[in-house]
Amino acid sequence: MAALRDVKLYLTEEAGQIAVFDATNTTRERRGMILNFAKENGFKVFFIESVCNDPTVVATNVMEVKLSSPDYRDCNSADAMEDFMKRINCYQASYQPLDPDDYDRELSLIKVIDVGRRFLVNRVQDHIQSRIVYYLMNIHVQPRTIYLCRHGESDFNLKGKIGGDSGLSNRGKKFAVALNKFVEEQNLKDLKVWTSQLKRTIQTAEALQLPYEQWKALNEIDAGVCEEMTYEEIREQHPEEFALRDQDKYYYRYPSGESYQDLVQRLEPVIMELERQENVLVICHQAVMRCLLAYFLDKSADEMPYLKCPLHTVLKLTPMAYGCRVESISLNIDAVNTHRERPEEAKKGPNPLMRRNSVTPLASPEPIKKPRINSFEEHVAVSSTLPGCVPQEVPTQLPGQPLLGKACL
Ligand code: F6P
Repeated sequence: MAALRDVKLYLTEEAGQIAVFDATNTTRERRGMILNFAKENGFKVFFIESVCNDPTVVATNVMEVKLSSPDYRDCNSADAMEDFMKRINCYQASYQPLDPDDYDRELSLIKVIDVGRRFLVNRVQDHIQSRIVYYLMNIHVQPRTIYLCRHGESDFNLKGKIGGDSGLSNRGKKFAVALNKFVEEQNLKDLKVWTSQLKRTIQTAEALQLPYEQWKALNEIDAGVCEEMTYEEIREQHPEEFALRDQDKYYYRYPSGESYQDLVQRLEPVIMELERQENVLVICHQAVMRCLLAYFLDKSADEMPYLKCPLHTVLKLTPMAYGCRVESISLNIDAVNTHRERPEEAKKGPNPLMRRNSVTPLASPEPIKKPRINSFEEHVAVSSTLPGCVPQEVPTQLPGQPLLGKACL
């Protein structure tokens, strides 16, 4: 009930759009209660039931996720495992699966069977629900590694110019060779390599003895009228633009160019394909790498444009339950630093400067991001050499707030 009260608060007072109510809603009575709660408050409900009868998958899940929960803090793993198996048996005794053919005919739901081997979908009511179905049908839990890096240092990086389509500097070429060695040492089978369609990422990938795929969606943020300028030149020639960007870097859109928010939308198909794939090396650009990293590390819109993604450094991401492990590996080839720190004035809070057409209009106030509850934080194995990433997408306003109910065993 406390969690449901939290859901209500989030959807009605904190500008939340979608709440995930994750609990063992295994009986019709429990689900009935959730449906009543939703009806009283005018929320939509979409049930996600994960049905898994594969003993190996169940055991792995218990080992990796459940044993580290606060319930088993002072317990050895064998005892904890035995206890959790008993818990499953108890639930099994009262479990009433969703029944879309009869009792639950009218409900909107998806049954995910054996972690994605099969799906059963019933009464998808709207765009958000169809996106949820699409997402669930594309993710997987196979162990895998995602490598993110930028292209080798470019001629424009040396000159401090942003954007453009220059080739690699001598040090950039050395990085490409070092990257090849690094990839060989990782000894991965079936590593996919993705680049943007810009010369500097393609030249980097050419040094690898692997086929690669070019994505236009991975091209660097389009700086519009500021392309091929240094930050100093922008400050002198477009002082207002420079100040506006410092004020709100995520939403600021370069005239005739893009914002970080635009980039997040452009990258959605890349992210979905990354979810589908196993081992992938993405050779991209500073702003693009920040967006990808923000997705995997659950970083906010405010933090994202300042994440540190240095040249000649590979970030190794290993997705795991409730988080993602990050290792930062420098390939020890010198390069210029292209990171511009958040200016002090911008740290102080809202600034009156504002030009509506330079940002994507907000459809609704940005939801307040709640800290995760402690018990989650405690077992997230995030070893990060980075300052602290899912981008805070600004949701579109929908008629009627949806609520996700989750019935899972
Ligand atoms: O400087 C390299 C670069 O990739 C530019 O092409 C791009 O405009 C910039 O980084 C993005 O970083 P920021 O958003 O911090 O300006």
